[in-house]
Amino acid sequence: MAKHINELVASRRALLGGLAGLPLLNLAACATPGSAASTSADGFAPVAPTNADTLTLPSGYSWKTLIAWGDALFDGIPDAPDLDAMTRADQEQRFGQNNDMLALFAGEYAFPPPTTQDRLILCVNNEYASLELAYPALRSPYDVTASQIEALYASTGVSIVDIARDGAGWRVVKGDGASGRNRRITPFSPVVFTGPAARHPWIIAASAIVNAAEPAAADTTAHAVRCGTSANCAGGLTPWGTYLTAEENFDGLFVGALDTGAQFEDPALALDAASFGYPGVGFTDRTPRQFNIAENPRGPALYGWIVEIDPYDPSSTPKKRTALGRKKNECATTALAQDGRVVVYMGDDQRNEHVYKFVSRGRFDPSNRAANMDLLDDGQLYCAQCDEDGSGRWIAITLAAANTAAAALESPIRFHDEGDLLMRVRDAARFLGATPMDRPEDVEAICGANWRGLGPVLIACTNNSERGFEQPGNPRREDAERPHAAQSNLAGHILRFDETGGDCGAETFTWDIFAMGGDPNAESASMRTRGGGAPAFIATAYDGAPTISGDRFACPDNLFIDSTHRVWIATDGSDFVFEDCNDCVLVTPS
Ligand code: FEO
Ligand code: CA
Repeated sequence: MAKHINELVASRRALLGGLAGLPLLNLAACATPGSAASTSADGFAPVAPTNADTLTLPSGYSWKTLIAWGDALFDGIPDAPDLDAMTRADQEQRFGQNNDMLALFAGEYAFPPPTTQDRLILCVNNEYASLELAYPALRSPYDVTASQIEALYASTGVSIVDIARDGAGWRVVKGDGASGRNRRITPFSPVVFTGPAARHPWIIAASAIVNAAEPAAADTTAHAVRCGTSANCAGGLTPWGTYLTAEENFDGLFVGALDTGAQFEDPALALDAASFGYPGVGFTDRTPRQFNIAENPRGPALYGWIVEIDPYDPSSTPKKRTALGRKKNECATTALAQDGRVVVYMGDDQRNEHVYKFVSRGRFDPSNRAANMDLLDDGQLYCAQCDEDGSGRWIAITLAAANTAAAALESPIRFHDEGDLLMRVRDAARFLGATPMDRPEDVEAICGANWRGLGPVLIACTNNSERGFEQPGNPRREDAERPHAAQSNLAGHILRFDETGGDCGAETFTWDIFAMGGDPNAESASMRTRGGGAPAFIATAYDGAPTISGDRFACPDNLFIDSTHRVWIATDGSDFVFEDCNDCVLVTPS
């Protein structure tokens, strides 16, 4: 190699203007066999590859469980669940299943957020339900009862938990139900739809069916819909101290067969089902009727939103912010534009879907928390278009532009109003020229003091098992043995945007590849994957230059950029590519 890898990486990044503090990518986590002892970052040695069914940490670190599925959130009920006997009512007072995003809020709100506290609020997404976890005695999934299915639905959504630190470390603080902030929000909880699509005909029709199926609590908020939230993947925190939870794979909530009558009357419904892939497989005779697609054909319109929750007020009703568009939302990451407007970045995690950002019309007021509470109802939603020359633009998704683009493409689809545009925003983005991505998952902006975005934005494109050709921002690897055009992207990559002028409110950006998933030490450009299926291409070079050194990784999912601008990468599905190692967390050195 003519140049040292770090020199190559640094020079390629310098073309973009560079970024002080954005590290070179010498990754450390799940080492290549034989290299574990030779790589280290920030004082810890990488762990060796392992398939052990446990969490493996570097030497000198340990872990313990803070809270687990079924643990009581309130006094007055047994600490642990009664396995095989869990009911919906019981689950509604207990921690949910299958955690995805975790967020911590200071016990007392302040801006900027305090960095040390002994009391915190933990918000957790409970993405999906596992039958075998709740009902291990069940001999066959076919034996599941209606009551058990209802409890499983109630094990998804969001769990909010007070935690405190004392001499023994962090512990959960249970509430008595009347005080404290512990709370479950399930697919049966009341929520309110806000923003342009709040009165969309699909939402009105589906809400009536949901509310008829769900007995109302006496104190229900006006216009509340008891559809709650579910399929909660990642999300974000706002500077005003609210939690954004992103509804992702909601297609699996719905079972049964499509109502062809309803679809015939409204062809957009058929397109919607095809785009999101509902209904899933389940028991129509035992599933809550609002999730039976034949009985509630517009039910899926109630999901796929970003939901804003005030963790400081357990009596507050979560709000589904329709201005941010309906899709399979992976995340909702906020950064402030230079003028104080609020920017929310989102990835739509499905093959060939898009990256979005919302920019609020109003500005964040750090001195008045209440004044910020509805900032996410009014603003402009954009989709990202990457061009071949490394430039890119945020395309404003407007009613006029979307309908003009649809007509120009001779599509029969038209958007009736702003609400319809946001309900079917995937189609609008496609017409407007958004770049089809390799499953965009987490999007993270590098922020400076006071939540101000600095311009660089990282996007985890976890993989694309189908598309065999590249799109700008979604490269395919060089491989002498196989035609370039036939490669999929099983190992994924991380994309970098640099917002023009270092302003997250900008309408243009440049893009570059931050890291290609794969193995920088591999001897071959491809390898067999689990089960001997299609080969995974694992070269980590882009444009002739290596993008990473150190440890291998595949399928980047969630990202975190810490205060020293180290990038933490969590993988999901990496063990499909690298069979000898579980998923892992990697970090770039500071
Ligand atoms: Fe729920 Fe895209 O991961
Ligand atoms: Ca995820």
